[in-house]
Amino acid sequence: MRDAKALAEYLRQRKPLTSVVSYPGRGPWGDNRYPGNCSGYLLIDLCATFRPSRVLDPMEGGGTSREVCADLGVEYAGFDLHSGTDSLRDPIGAGYDLIFWHPPYHDMKLYSDDPRDLSRAGSLAAFQALLRAAYWRFFELLAPGGRMAILMGDLRRQGRYEPLTHDVVRLDRPHLEGIVVKMQHNVSSNTTQYGGAFVPILHETLTIFRRPAR
Ligand SMILES: C[S@@+](CC[C@H](N)C(=O)[O-])C[C@H]1O[C@@H](n2cnc3c(N)ncnc32)[C@H](O)[C@@H]1O
Repeated sequence: MRDAKALAEYLRQRKPLTSVVSYPGRGPWGDNRYPGNCSGYLLIDLCATFRPSRVLDPMEGGGTSREVCADLGVEYAGFDLHSGTDSLRDPIGAGYDLIFWHPPYHDMKLYSDDPRDLSRAGSLAAFQALLRAAYWRFFELLAPGGRMAILMGDLRRQGRYEPLTHDVVRLDRPHLEGIVVKMQHNVSSNTTQYGGAFVPILHETLTIFRRPAR
């Protein structure tokens, strides 16, 4: 337990989860130096809202969700290529009622030299194909009524806007349950200007899909 009092205080004063969230601090959960790590408060809000009993994070990176679940006392399974599991192919369990999936944002950050790494997919089309394959693999691991929440951001390449968050929504419209816009803080890679007018990207989205209860 990192700071039981701080967690209890956050749980006491937190507002219900809505379609816009903002966490200026990431909290003490996980490795804050891990590239692309996310805020633990997002995981706390997800768990407090949906009350899962078994959580999977198939690309856990610096362990944010692992540590949040440990502090909340929620059963957790987490995997990552950096610790030897290719979550697109290797066994990663089943029967989860919440899957939190935070994939690489295409090649915005390169996580390893391993060709199985999603950030090494190469073309955008290849990345989209892997995203789709992984989505349906993970969907099959959900218990009936279980949810998958996917955290994704958009990016720009040579002045072109790549709406990766839309690619996620379009993975499975029939099972879409909600979209949460998450404000980004301390964004550094967003300052290149193109032709004077420039709209920096200051958000990510958490797209929530739900497997039917029966
Ligand atoms: C955005 S990071 C996750 C960050 C994490 N949420 C945190 O707070 O630290 C994406 C992760 O996906 C992992 N990854 C990429 N391809 C993978 C694969 N095929 N199997 C498992 N993990 C993979 C990378 O190693 C990286 O740690």
